[in-house]
Amino acid sequence: MEKMPQHQKKEHEKNFWENSVVYQVYPWTFNEDEAREPQLGHGSIAGITEKLDYLKKDVGVDALWLSPFYPSPMKDGGYDVIDMTAVHEELGTLADFEALVTEAHERDMKIMIDLMPNHTSNEHSWFQESRSSKDNSKADWYIWHDGVVDADGNRRPPNNWASVFSLPQLEARKRGELDVAPGDMTPPISAWTWDDERQQYYLHSFANFQPDLNWSNPDVRAAIKDIMRTWLDRGVDGFRIDAVNYIGKNMDFTDEDTDTAYVEGVDNPYDQLRRYNSCGYPWTFYRHVREMTDVLYEDKYKDRDTRIILEAYMGEHELKKLNEIAPGKASTFNFGALDLSWQAPLRWIQARAYYNSLPEGGVANQVNGNHDKPRLASRLGDEAARAAGLHNILLPGMTFIYNGEELGLHNAKIPKRYIKDPNGLRDPERTPMLWDGHAKHHGFSRTDRHLYLPLNQADTHLDVAAQRGDPDSSLALYKSAIELKHELTRPRYVSLIAKTAEGEHHDDVMAYGVESDDKRFTVMTNFASREVTAFVPNYAARAVGSVALSSVAAGGNSIDDSLDLKHGVRLGANEAIVIRH
Ligand code: NOJ
Repeated sequence: MEKMPQHQKKEHEKNFWENSVVYQVYPWTFNEDEAREPQLGHGSIAGITEKLDYLKKDVGVDALWLSPFYPSPMKDGGYDVIDMTAVHEELGTLADFEALVTEAHERDMKIMIDLMPNHTSNEHSWFQESRSSKDNSKADWYIWHDGVVDADGNRRPPNNWASVFSLPQLEARKRGELDVAPGDMTPPISAWTWDDERQQYYLHSFANFQPDLNWSNPDVRAAIKDIMRTWLDRGVDGFRIDAVNYIGKNMDFTDEDTDTAYVEGVDNPYDQLRRYNSCGYPWTFYRHVREMTDVLYEDKYKDRDTRIILEAYMGEHELKKLNEIAPGKASTFNFGALDLSWQAPLRWIQARAYYNSLPEGGVANQVNGNHDKPRLASRLGDEAARAAGLHNILLPGMTFIYNGEELGLHNAKIPKRYIKDPNGLRDPERTPMLWDGHAKHHGFSRTDRHLYLPLNQADTHLDVAAQRGDPDSSLALYKSAIELKHELTRPRYVSLIAKTAEGEHHDDVMAYGVESDDKRFTVMTNFASREVTAFVPNYAARAVGSVALSSVAAGGNSIDDSLDLKHGVRLGANEAIVIRH
C-alpha cells in the first residue's frame, strides 16, 4: 500500500470525532417542519433544522449523519439516487440544506452525509445515457457485458454473481413462483439484468434498479470525487460511504465459489456465494477507497475536521486494512458487536480485538443500530436496550445512535399497503419519530394525507414530550451517559475481566475501563435478566469508586453509592453502571 498522507493531526491536538456522538437521521421519517404548506406527511430538511436544539440539548449529540436526501424514485429508501448533488424536492431545497449546515455549525455540531459511490438509480441521467448505445460519452460508466451462450444456445449472464437483495426469493419459492426441485437450494437473483435498449447485461450488486458504477473508469472516479468536493464546499463535514466494498471488483468477472455455511430456508440466497471477486477485491478495492479519502487531504480541506465512515460488511482482516488507509480521517463502521448476540463473553472478545486492531491515530466507533437493522429495543428488550445504550455510549470513540434509539422505540407492524423496502424487511425500524402526543401525528407532521410510513401506535407513550423531564426515561439515560462520555478527552479502552465470587470468569458480566489523562470510569454491564454479583480483582489501583450512572431507573445501583470492585458489585437484572474513580 502507498504511504499514508502526512496531514494527520498531531498527537496533542483534539480530534473533534474521537469521542463524539453521531446521530443518524432518516430524513423521510424524522420531522416535517411546522412551516411547510401543504404538509406532505414525511420529513423535510427544515424539519431536521427545527430539531437541532433537541439533538444538542436534550440528547447531547455532536454530529448528524443524514441518510440520503437526494432526488430519487425512492425504491430503496433514497439509496437509489438520480442526482447526488441536489436535494429531493419533497424534502426541501439546497437553501434549506445550507441553512441546516449553518445552524448546526452555530451549535458546534457537524453534518455528515451519505455518499453512494457504488450505484445510482437506473433513472439517473448517467445510466440513461450509458444504456442508450455502446459508444456514447457514458458508455463505460456502468458495467456492461454481452453475456455468454450456454450449451443449449441460450443467452446467460456472464457469471454467477448474485444480487444482495435476494432474500425475497425465499418467499417467492414458498409461493410456488420458482421452478426449483425439492431439496435444491433457492437460487439467488442474478446481479446481471438484460437491457433491451443496449442489448447487453448490466451489473447491479443490489436491486436491478440500482446499476453499479464502473470504478475501473477514471471518469467515474473523478465524478464521485467532484461530488464530494461539491458538498465539502457547501460546508458538509464528512461522509458515510454506502456499500463501499462493492466498488472493488475483479473486472475479469471470475465466478464466486460456493459458501458451505449457507443455510437453506433461513439465509439470504445471496449467501450461497463467497465474495472475493464481486466485492472487496483487494487489487482494486483499497486503491479506490484511498482515492476518496485523499479528497479530505486536498489543500482546500485538509485542515478541516472532516471524517469518513465506511459501510463495509467484511472480515476483520479487511476491516483492519481499511482502517489503516487514513486513520486520521476515515474508519469503517464497527459492526462486529452489532451482529453478535447480547452475551458478555462475546462482546468482551469483540471489544478487545476491535480496540487492539485499530492503527495509531485511528478513531473507534460503536453502533447499536441503523436503518437496516431491527430497532435495538426490539432486538434486546427494553431493559437490555438501556444497558446496551449506556454500554456503547461510554466506549471510547464515535458512538452512533439511530434516530429513536434514545427513546427506546421499537419496530412497528407495517400494513402491507405501506411497504416500501424492496426486501419487504426494513420498514418496521423506519417509522416516524414520535415528538409530542398533544400534536397531530405526534408532532411528526400536520398532514391530512397518509404518512410516508405509519406511526408506531404501540410506542406513542414513548414520545419526546413524555420523556423530556422524566429522570427515569430512556432519553434522560442517554443524555446523562453522553454527558459522562464528554467528560473524557482522548479516552483509552481498558479491557477488564469480571469474575464470580469463586474467581471464575463471569458468564454474564462485561467490565471495561475508560481512562483519559485525568479521569477514569469503569463500566460494568450485566447481560443477564437476573441479579448477579461480579468482581474486578485485577484493577487494584481503581478498586474503589462511586456510581455515576445506572441504566436501571428504579431499584438499580444508586448514584453516588460507593463501590469496591475487589469486594464485589451487585448488578440488577440487565443493569449497566458507570463507576467514577
Ligand atoms: C446500504 C444501505 O444502508 C441500505 O439501506 C441500502 O439498501 C444498500 N446499501 C443499498 O444501497
